[in-house]
Amino acid sequence: MFASSLFFSGLLSSALAVAKYDEYILTPSSRKIHPSSVYNINGTVDGSESLIASSSGSAIFHDFSAVTYDYGKNIGGIVSLTIGAISDTDQLIGITFSESSLWISGEWSDATADEGNDVSLFFYPSGPGVYTVGEQYQRGGFRYLSLVHNTTGSLEVQKIEVNYTAVPHIEEAQMRAYSGWFHSDELLDTNDGSDELINRIWYAGAYTAQLCTLDPHYGNSLNFLTDPENNPSTPVNGVVNWYSNTTIANASSVLADGAKRDRLVWPGDMVVSWPSMLVSTNDKVTVTNSLTSLFDRQNMTTGVMPYAGVPFPFMYSATYHLHSLIGTAEIYVYDGDLEFVREKWEQWKFALAYSLSTIDETGLINVTSSADWLRFGMGGHNIEANAILYHTLNYGVILAEALNDTSVITTYQNYAANIKSAAQDLLWDPSANLFRDNETTSLHPQDGNAWAVLANLTTSSSQAASISQSLISRWTTYGAPAPEAGPTVSPFVGFFELQAHAAAHNASAVLALTRLQWGFMLDDARMTNSTFIEGYSTDGSLHYAPYRNDPRVSHAHGWSTGPTSVLTFQIAGVQIVKAGGREWRIAPRLGGLGHTHAGFETSLGVFAARTKLGEGGELRIEFEAPEGTVGRLSVERPRCAGMMVLEGRCGREEFAIRENEGDVGDFEIAGLGGGEWVLTFGCA
Ligand SMILES: *[C@@H]1O[C@H](CO)[C@@H](O)[C@H](O)[C@H]1NC(C)=O
Ligand SMILES: *[C@@H]1O[C@H](CO)[C@@H](O)[C@H](O)[C@H]1NC(C)=O
Ligand SMILES: *[C@@H]1O[C@H](CO)[C@@H](O)[C@H](O)[C@H]1NC(C)=O
Ligand SMILES: *[C@@H]1O[C@H](CO)[C@@H](O)[C@H](O)[C@H]1NC(C)=O
Ligand SMILES: *[C@@H]1O[C@H](CO)[C@@H](O)[C@H](O)[C@H]1NC(C)=O
Ligand SMILES: *[C@@H]1O[C@H](CO)[C@@H](O)[C@H](O)[C@H]1NC(C)=O
Ligand SMILES: *[C@@H]1O[C@H](CO)[C@@H](O)[C@H](O)[C@H]1NC(C)=O
Ligand SMILES: *[C@@H]1O[C@H](CO)[C@@H](O)[C@H](O)[C@H]1NC(C)=O
Ligand SMILES: *[C@@H]1O[C@H](CO)[C@@H](O)[C@H](O)[C@H]1NC(C)=O
Ligand SMILES: *[C@@H]1O[C@H](CO)[C@@H](O)[C@H](O)[C@H]1NC(C)=O
Ligand SMILES: *[C@@H]1O[C@H](CO)[C@@H](O)[C@H](O)[C@H]1NC(C)=O
Ligand SMILES: *[C@@H]1O[C@H](CO)[C@@H](O)[C@H](O)[C@H]1NC(C)=O
Repeated sequence: MFASSLFFSGLLSSALAVAKYDEYILTPSSRKIHPSSVYNINGTVDGSESLIASSSGSAIFHDFSAVTYDYGKNIGGIVSLTIGAISDTDQLIGITFSESSLWISGEWSDATADEGNDVSLFFYPSGPGVYTVGEQYQRGGFRYLSLVHNTTGSLEVQKIEVNYTAVPHIEEAQMRAYSGWFHSDELLDTNDGSDELINRIWYAGAYTAQLCTLDPHYGNSLNFLTDPENNPSTPVNGVVNWYSNTTIANASSVLADGAKRDRLVWPGDMVVSWPSMLVSTNDKVTVTNSLTSLFDRQNMTTGVMPYAGVPFPFMYSATYHLHSLIGTAEIYVYDGDLEFVREKWEQWKFALAYSLSTIDETGLINVTSSADWLRFGMGGHNIEANAILYHTLNYGVILAEALNDTSVITTYQNYAANIKSAAQDLLWDPSANLFRDNETTSLHPQDGNAWAVLANLTTSSSQAASISQSLISRWTTYGAPAPEAGPTVSPFVGFFELQAHAAAHNASAVLALTRLQWGFMLDDARMTNSTFIEGYSTDGSLHYAPYRNDPRVSHAHGWSTGPTSVLTFQIAGVQIVKAGGREWRIAPRLGGLGHTHAGFETSLGVFAARTKLGEGGELRIEFEAPEGTVGRLSVERPRCAGMMVLEGRCGREEFAIRENEGDVGDFEIAGLGGGEWVLTFGCA
């Protein structure tokens, strides 16, 4: 029946096997980690190679000497040194850390504060034995560890061991047991190899979120925020006395913004990390722990949610306030857990009422707090804040319906409609095909425009497409710029831009930006080849405009993990529509790839799809969804000379559809039940 009849025969036997693609997983298999190579030696050190993972023996440091070890990827934990012979008890052995090769030093570690560098750790061993740094000196992110011997005499190191402290609530043997997976292959007959980059990016996002999952007793290395009088971050001779022992949640695990820093709960980071975690490790408990720590700080007089978790000073941010509400809604939307939302619902509505109270006669919020993701010029009728509020109101309607709370539905819908029309009237700039940041500026921000499209603040698909095209036209060699934050590439805002291109039906733009921006973040030699940096400059230098101190930048930041969920939801097309997948949508948009296979688990079960593009443009899609769920399939019509044919079966359910030539656009079929489906789609 199909033009190419030998169509994917190899795939039939392997239908829907839950392949884990284990070889891409970056999570260590053991909590005991040893260096993978020697990066550099200064002075005289015998046997430095002995301390790498596959070797045995010891390293002997003579006089002023140092070795920098490379772990091959970013890791985090508590360092122990096994010391052997020492020439005398005046021997000092120091330890310094760096995430980037740029900040390797014998004198200090890279930074956690916006000034100075972090003081090194050191021992004066009294004799042979195991020397372990204090738990408050666990370093959450480093790829390079230097041992520095800066005394005359000699000292033998028999072992360096890092006790990996991320994902503290997960047993060692389960750390790599991801419930989700993603794999793609290159387009048939092309061989650019870039699909491997896409696969590595997906797994690096998953690993980055894991490295940001902490024991809450070891949060926030910047104690100065609560103790300005005794500020340990004030550099003395250029070094900062850092440590991480502030309790940031009452729980056994918590999701922080970054692994090295801030080691604090930030709602903005969570809005990106939670979907990444859902599709990879489904570590929901860590996210609800973190959201609970934010609700525990809500001001019960005003409804205002904190900008960040304790011990960060309490302040209001129009957007971060809403990110906590979006994160809570997405616990229900993605996982189907209504209990968490029910428990927080009164607080949720109270918080949203505060946002609504800041709306003025125009129908838009007038932002009066500069606090946001460290972008500049955050004030007035800001498009980003208003698009995020619009999105939150739509989530409010979904939650209210799920909870049968009719008291707020009409109110939320009316506010949302007013925001949409006011944003069009006051902020749309037809000459640029973009929204302005506010009505008194000609700056067209990345954040507000990406949010406007993904939140459907746009009024037509052509408006969404024109914003998508305008954003694409601004890309540079290193990614998509965020002019609202100076000469900055923001992987955080990049997540929203990826979703905007998907919403504007441009899958190839989703992949192109993923390769351009996250490919740079993975492969550039200054990066960790494993986790994603917080932000950088449009010229590719590792300078993040909101910070003065370049070594401060975090190289493992949850908000930079966006492609992990976007690739699963928008490219492989495994989508949750409602309540953890009670309603789903399978909508693969390969965007130039030849084959995708992705799946994940929610509280309802496994959702997965394997899609392969044939030489004549035919698609074969095998997918599964739990019994008792319903969903839709969406495919892009091929350009057929004759008829288009779509056939699907799942047990005794089946359908066969034929369409005449000439129809264009997406084709959707609704009302499909859960089960294991096999579909073929192409030209007759
Ligand atoms: C090794 O020496 C180089 C050149 O002086 C220096 O830049 C580097 O920081 C030193 N490494 C360590 C770990 O001391
Ligand atoms: C040796 O290293 C320790 C720890 O980093 C430092 O306090 C000390 O000043 C260094 N001494 C010399 C001579 O560099
Ligand atoms: C690793 O660190 C954790 C957290 O501090 C601690 O509970 C555990 O005992 C340590 N394990 C080893 C082998 O040192
Ligand atoms: C945290 O560690 C610092 C540095 O060792 C120490 O002074 C402080 O007392 C510790 N705080 C807590 C709460 O353990
Ligand atoms: C932990 O719970 C106690 C008692 O409810 C509360 O006072 C404290 O603020 C909580 N700490 C955090 C970090 O949420
Ligand atoms: C809540 O906000 C009000 C108004 O800004 C303020 O007066 C009050 O101190 C805040 N309450 C707490 C517990 O911070
Ligand atoms: C309007 O946007 C511009 C550009 O971001 C900014 O400089 C300005 O401060 C904003 N206005 C207000 C009131 O915040
Ligand atoms: C926003 O509110 C501030 C403070 O009340 C006011 O000065 C400003 O004019 C308002 N901006 C707009 C655009 O209404
Ligand atoms: C909402 O109402 C419907 C219909 O009355 C009922 O089936 C459902 O269980 C209710 N949901 C909740 C969360 O109370
Ligand atoms: C976007 O909003 C319009 C109303 O402005 C609505 O008709 C349309 O269905 C929405 N699209 C989506 C994808 O929700
Ligand atoms: C889709 O994105 C690509 C960049 O990957 C761009 O070249 C193309 O023009 C976009 N297509 C549309 C219809 O906007
Ligand atoms: C980066 O990591 C991958 C494994 O994820 C490895 O195959 C590759 O060789 C590494 N690249 C470099 C430059 O180390």
